[in-house]
Amino acid sequence: SLDPHQPVWLFGYGSLIYKADFPFLERRPATIHDWARRFWQGSHDHRGTPDRPGRVVTLIQTPGALCTGMAYRITPDVFEHLDHREKNGYLRFRTPLTFADGDQADGLVYIATEDNAAFLGQTDELLIARHIATSQGPSGSNRDYLLQLAEALRDMDADDDHVFTIERHLLSL
Ligand code: BEZ
Repeated sequence: SLDPHQPVWLFGYGSLIYKADFPFLERRPATIHDWARRFWQGSHDHRGTPDRPGRVVTLIQTPGALCTGMAYRITPDVFEHLDHREKNGYLRFRTPLTFADGDQADGLVYIATEDNAAFLGQTDELLIARHIATSQGPSGSNRDYLLQLAEALRDMDADDDHVFTIERHLLSL
């Protein structure tokens, strides 16, 4: 369904915001409507292990919510690389994107839904912070994942009470 010669927008809302280890034609901050970023997905392969999964972000359908992320214009062959990097329960969906200047475009986004085996779901943000503080995996510490994400969101002037609350808890443990 993807024409290999037609570039597409990929919306990143987690590690893709600060770690673009793939070629892209252009990157622009963007928002998506009716989705909230939440540390509700388990990570067996990047920020944790099968015995002790870390906690990473996914998107939860939330009417009225706005999620700020980074959109990358890429050629579809890049998905071969990303589909490998972003396994562990994430699937690709289509979504409308809004750029800072009001322009709109359709894009693709990786979402881990609650029916995937690694989904952890909602819990108290202090418990999430404690969990993140003690998890690590092949891609590094779960703490660094959270801190790099929070810093990248601040750099974009993005609002995200969930991420910033967990960061504040973690830094005061
Ligand atoms: C993201 O940053 O959008 C992302 C990263 C890893 C897995 C899924 C999504």
